[in-house]
Amino acid sequence: MEDVTIKDKTFTLYIGENDLQSRIRALAHHLNDFYREKIPLLVPVLNGAFLFTADLIREMNTGPEVHFIRVSSYGNEMNSSGNLKVPIGLETEIRDRHVLIIEDIVDSGLTCDYLMDYFLSFHPASVKIATLLYKPLSHKGKYKPDFVGFEIPPEFVVGFGLDYAQLGRELKGIYRLKPPKE
Ligand code: IMP
Ligand code: MG
Repeated sequence: MEDVTIKDKTFTLYIGENDLQSRIRALAHHLNDFYREKIPLLVPVLNGAFLFTADLIREMNTGPEVHFIRVSSYGNEMNSSGNLKVPIGLETEIRDRHVLIIEDIVDSGLTCDYLMDYFLSFHPASVKIATLLYKPLSHKGKYKPDFVGFEIPPEFVVGFGLDYAQLGRELKGIYRLKPPKE
């Protein structure tokens, strides 16, 4: 199945399951080298990052700690509201830790900027950003992601954790919005 319809929109397959899995494995190996001999504190951002994180950590050999958090900048639709909320769920000491923020996608970069500044204020040893997807042409933030799965054009995508109106997260691939037929 190359196309999926969610509510009023049709999406077409963009990055298949095998490509996602092999890229995630490569990223995990990169992180294993980067955090060698350290116990990084992984902070995945709910909801979107749950599948990426699940696959990533199973390839990591540095014994990471994982603390999911939630912030929100998007409502139910496709536009950023820009209203960020304080991270909910973080109940651990940040000082002197190697923090790795894990995102499903970095779009405008507002969420990452907000989280970076938030974590930096607790004097960690380091803060880096890993994201499965990155839209460099949409980015207007201060901090670029440090570990990127795939750079993609500024188009709306769903699947593998990412939603359209809270649906489509279970898809095994990444699907992009199909342009309407003339
Ligand atoms: P930001 O614009 O970088 O702050 O992105 C914030 C959040 O918007 C991401 O973590 C996603 O949850 C969501 N988002 C951005 N682009 C897309 C997309 O193409 N599909 C689904 N969610 C998206
Ligand atoms: Mg997200």
